[in-house]
Amino acid sequence: MTGLVSVPVNGLRGKIGVPGDKSISHRALMIGGMAVGETTIRGLLLGDDVLRTATAMEAMGVTILRDSDDQWRVFGVGVGGLREPDNVLDLGNAGTGARLLMGLVGTHPITAQFTGDASLRSRPMGRIAEPLSQIGTQVIARNGDKMPLTVTGAKMPMPIEYVLPVPSAQVKSAVLLAGLNTPGKTSVVESRPSRDHTELMLRHFGANVSVVDEEEDRRVITVTGQPELEGREVNVPGDPSSAAFPLVAGLISQDAEITISNVGLNPLRIGLIETLREMGATIDVNNEREQAGEPVADLLVRSSKLNGVTVPPERAPSMIDEYPILAVAAATAEGVTLMQGLAELRVKESDRLAAIVDGLRACGVIVDVEGDDLIVTGSPGQLAGGARIESRMDHRIAMSFLVMGMAAKNAVEIDDAGHIGTSFPAFVELMNGLGAKIEETT
Ligand code: S3P
Repeated sequence: MTGLVSVPVNGLRGKIGVPGDKSISHRALMIGGMAVGETTIRGLLLGDDVLRTATAMEAMGVTILRDSDDQWRVFGVGVGGLREPDNVLDLGNAGTGARLLMGLVGTHPITAQFTGDASLRSRPMGRIAEPLSQIGTQVIARNGDKMPLTVTGAKMPMPIEYVLPVPSAQVKSAVLLAGLNTPGKTSVVESRPSRDHTELMLRHFGANVSVVDEEEDRRVITVTGQPELEGREVNVPGDPSSAAFPLVAGLISQDAEITISNVGLNPLRIGLIETLREMGATIDVNNEREQAGEPVADLLVRSSKLNGVTVPPERAPSMIDEYPILAVAAATAEGVTLMQGLAELRVKESDRLAAIVDGLRACGVIVDVEGDDLIVTGSPGQLAGGARIESRMDHRIAMSFLVMGMAAKNAVEIDDAGHIGTSFPAFVELMNGLGAKIEETT
């Protein structure tokens, strides 16, 4: 285990790009793998999570070539063409990889076993098994809903309409990907819109996907099964969830000015930027453009005086991975920040609600949880820091507390940096390039 320490700094400055979007990278490999012909992917995230998905797709017959770090080519097997893997699919830390692949496998007449690291093996998989069983897939899981598990795909899949019991893009995407090799129309109904990268990417490859807002709380997404998908070019934008770390570092440290280029700004991913602006953040969005159907722009951020706000539960899906770093920003803001409706944080790579509360308290912050709400009382200029935080196999917890160290009075340590590489392998190098001081602990 390598620990890291981040010491307080002033004057973070410079221009960086962040790695490719993790959600889009997984989907590009999977949907490219279901197409006929060649798919070229540029800007793929070279994080462990995505590499696991690539290996799993290869194990099921897809040819994937890494021409260079920036260019990958996928030769798909066509919808319905996956072959049975001859070994267990080990998805490591990757919840998205595991859950979306379960959907894909679920409507192929093959059997695949799935496992992952200790974090992934503790996460609920019943939420995927449930809709898949309605389609006709059999999932046999440890303790009913944990990995390792075995998926036996339906030979004659049934199209379903599935009303999401939890707001989750992973569950939505698993059902839509299962719908790809199901005759007829498969629909998912969401009450709170979640990231729509699967829908956009399926369309980009030629599938028929309709999205209808029937009522305020009823968005129906329908995929028409068994299309012929065609290989395409995909340019993966920078991940807004990774950009969140330098963004908040720039806001909460003194005398900072940072440009983060090529950040994906899908409207269903920008809850953090909206919230930080409400708190008083100076964030300029420059050079707005479109890339593979997704809006992208360059962000310019400067040190800002922040004020506490209330973040409503409806906003959670659009910033679900950003609460740990928002909580760090809230700890430096004037007044109280109330973040509502965070139940889903308990089932991420770690129990993030507990990790945030324990970590902030160790750094001297006043923090409370009431039901599913998180309440952080900020103390501008008075953030103590000076603690060693357990990263709990969770990349976003690790990076959030390293950012906290930059703006606290005393350094902040994390016990294990190992998982940062799942989503942001160059995090330390890039942050240190801006003037941060993150070093290995002995
Ligand atoms: C993701 C969806 C979210 C998010 C995860 C990536 C995706 O999970 O937390 O990091 O790519 O679909 P949930 O669907 O569980 O909310």
